[in-house]
Amino acid sequence: MKIGIPTEIKNNESRVSITPAGVFELSKQNHEIFLQFNAGLASGFSNQAYQEAGAVILDHIEDVYETAELIVKVKEPIEAEYNLIKENQLVFTYFHFASSQQLTQAMLKAKAICIAYETVQDEDSSLPLLTPMSEVAGRMATQQGAKYLEKPIKGKGILLGGVPGVSPGKVLVLGAGVVGIQAAKMAAGLGAHVTILDISMKRLRYVNDIMPSHVVTEFSNEYNIRKHIKTADLIIGAVLIAGAKAPKLITADMLKEMTPGTVMVDVAVDQGGCFETTKPTTHENPTYIIDNVVHYCVTNMPGAVPYTSTLALTNVTFPYVMQLANLGWQKACDLNKSLAKGLSMVNGKVICPEVKKAFPELVN
Ligand SMILES: NC(=O)c1ccc[n+]([C@@H]2O[C@H](COP(=O)([O-])OP(=O)(O)OC[C@H]3O[C@@H](n4cnc5c(N)ncnc54)[C@H](O)[C@@H]3O)[C@@H](O)[C@H]2O)c1
Repeated sequence: MKIGIPTEIKNNESRVSITPAGVFELSKQNHEIFLQFNAGLASGFSNQAYQEAGAVILDHIEDVYETAELIVKVKEPIEAEYNLIKENQLVFTYFHFASSQQLTQAMLKAKAICIAYETVQDEDSSLPLLTPMSEVAGRMATQQGAKYLEKPIKGKGILLGGVPGVSPGKVLVLGAGVVGIQAAKMAAGLGAHVTILDISMKRLRYVNDIMPSHVVTEFSNEYNIRKHIKTADLIIGAVLIAGAKAPKLITADMLKEMTPGTVMVDVAVDQGGCFETTKPTTHENPTYIIDNVVHYCVTNMPGAVPYTSTLALTNVTFPYVMQLANLGWQKACDLNKSLAKGLSMVNGKVICPEVKKAFPELVN
């Protein structure tokens, strides 16, 4: 199969969809891989590394879309890419269709076959192609929070780990899912006092079993949240209610109860945020201050660490890419029920139930 790897052109997106290791494996199976010039550079992979692995380098994005039967991407196509996608072309990437009627309409019009990373789902309901990005964002949340606690960037001026003779900082994590556990693990590693709240006893039991004793679990309710925010140095929002907007666990009035220079990192910003005062921010301008509380609400945190994120993502996407290339989308989806859940659109028709629900007027 002819497989295309375009350069990501969405603002601040530096990941690439297939690494040279993936190209090498696909080439061994006699697939032809077409890489846009410099597509892997920001993730640390040179054109030469791809060429040595068997890829053909094409200068322009138009050439990649024109040549390939299967396009493997990272982010959803943006407007400039809509017209490049052809009828019957198979596109495997994050789409987030339910949040964009414009993209949904464009892909229906293109009559492409769209398989969305974010809805590939295993039997236990887990979302294997979202998990690694939550892992990256969770670990980054603590790293960013520790940085913004520094005085010159308006934080409290606290070293999270403390030093001998000085107490470490206090971290409050809301949500003990993938993001929350990774954030707590990093904070615990730095030596901080960590409290992690969730409404799922199953999650809290799990955290209690695997974490060191300076990570404490408590049930999530307003009373406990109000108690902890008074002394927390870093608060990390990591809650998710599947398919719904994040609940506003920290309301605007609560900021007044925090000490000046407290840092709040809202990882759940992509679901509307779990702090009432959350506004989406970018890597160029990641923070803002309200009531002396530093807010960090970057919507694509993994984009800042493309070396790590590309490897984490391609580790999980690559087996599906190989299956699609070897079998074609129909056979691959027949054989692999997890992959079939990602099938969103075929030949101008919406397949995915969530997208149908989001845009009933587009269903035919
Ligand atoms: N900003 C970014 O770059 C970025 C990157 C990756 C993930 N995310 C987002 O991070 C959020 C968390 O993702 P995840 O993979 O950890 O989800 P997850 O489903 O693994 O975990 C969410 C947890 O929140 C808990 N929860 C629900 N309501 C709660 C409440 N009222 N109080 C406390 N806990 C509650 C759930 O029980 C669950 O354990 C999502 O919104 C996800 O989209 C953002």
